[in-house]
Amino acid sequence: MVLSVPPFPGKNNSKLEHFEETVDYVLSQLEQHRGITPEAFPSVSETSLYYPWNLLDPIDKNWCISWLKTVIKYATISLETSEADLAQRFEVLLSNSAKALAELSGKAGSGSVKAGITCWDSNANSTVLTINEPDFADADVGAKTWGSSILLSRWIIRKEIDVSGYKNIIELGSGTGLCGLAIGKALLDSESDHSLVVTDYIPSILDSVKSGFLSTFNLEKTAFLESNTISLSQFLQATISACDWFSFNQYTVDNESKESISLLNISQTQNHEIVEPPIANYSDVKDSISFIKNQKNSYLSLDWESSLHKFDLVVASDVLYEISHALIIPRIVNHLLSTKNILKDSSGYTRDFFQNSSALFKRAPIFVIVVPLRKTHWNEVNVFMSEMQKLGFISEFQKDTTLEQDISDWLDSLESQTNISVSRKNEILSCSNIADDQTYRIWIWSRTNIPEA
Ligand SMILES: C[S@@+](CC[C@H](N)C(=O)[O-])C[C@H]1O[C@@H](n2cnc3c(N)ncnc32)[C@H](O)[C@@H]1O
Repeated sequence: MVLSVPPFPGKNNSKLEHFEETVDYVLSQLEQHRGITPEAFPSVSETSLYYPWNLLDPIDKNWCISWLKTVIKYATISLETSEADLAQRFEVLLSNSAKALAELSGKAGSGSVKAGITCWDSNANSTVLTINEPDFADADVGAKTWGSSILLSRWIIRKEIDVSGYKNIIELGSGTGLCGLAIGKALLDSESDHSLVVTDYIPSILDSVKSGFLSTFNLEKTAFLESNTISLSQFLQATISACDWFSFNQYTVDNESKESISLLNISQTQNHEIVEPPIANYSDVKDSISFIKNQKNSYLSLDWESSLHKFDLVVASDVLYEISHALIIPRIVNHLLSTKNILKDSSGYTRDFFQNSSALFKRAPIFVIVVPLRKTHWNEVNVFMSEMQKLGFISEFQKDTTLEQDISDWLDSLESQTNISVSRKNEILSCSNIADDQTYRIWIWSRTNIPEA
């Protein structure tokens, strides 16, 4: 049952349970907006009485924010003057309303939250990837799931990027780990061996990636071995590893002295130039981002030496937001990506726009990156492109699109190949509607001139 006006302290016959149930209702709405189906609250209880805020309406939302501030004040005062039992209820009311207020006020204040991202497979069946977004204070930009990873995950689940032909896969700068989860889902039924390594450099982000795997694949905490490896199927292993891109500098220096590379070998020495980390990188200013230093790190660092040319698929999304990233990422990809073709198999790439890509048809090792084309970051994009070319990579495929345009184009192509119903199409369009008008580039790179397998 719903109240016609929100409960207010001392007004409208408002009782404590009206505040409790209304705050619970707000929290359940927020969960729904994050793609999580809330636990049976509130409408199932015949007796509950709450005010049904419409948080999608900006006016209602602002009013709800002011209301929550009032509830916090009311709960704080009442908490101090109440007997133990009642005080406990006010304490819960206080903490729940503070949580709702923080989330309504923006991600930076909301602490760690679960979210569900919906993707559709090539038959338009939906699948939800559940991620855990850590507290912003612990995870910096990795606390948020960026549009780039949503786009890439959708391409992976739709098999437009068909990951099933690749055996050793690595993700760089995973953030909340959405792409890794999509790769895991896409390979779950595969009957050939696959190994997936998901990496980032902040331990709390890696903890979140771990939670994402547990929730998305419905697994117990103990499913992860001490090495942070998990078997998602008989054939598929995922490992969560620490990897700071700028630790590659030290590896190249050590390796250079070991191998005593001739100074006359120009291409090698170019590779071994040090790339200074951005000013905000923790290794540069240890004290200003002390949260990383203080976090417990139980993750093994990616071993550069044994990773040389080990991977036939490298993926990354939104990792070029500093010039130093645009300089170091190509070198890392050059180090990690295999130099041999894997297998000749032209299945998978059905969309017309892939037809000209010989690397995809030969299943050459590829680097797939999604880059948001932010007005402020063209320099990074251009430096990245020129560094990739210098290292002998070619752009096999690129497509610029928005999240909305992408779904709509894909539905059109599906319509021409299958008989997807109009109502299903509209349903997908309506639930894919993430407020984001950014243009992204999906970019696939391969090495030039590598021999066929
Ligand atoms: C903008 S976020 C993108 C996250 C995720 N790929 C996505 O699209 O949602 C950039 C990611 O790169 C990671 N990152 C930044 N500097 C890094 C470094 N030096 N080494 C490894 N990862 C780094 C951040 O921790 C963060 O998770």
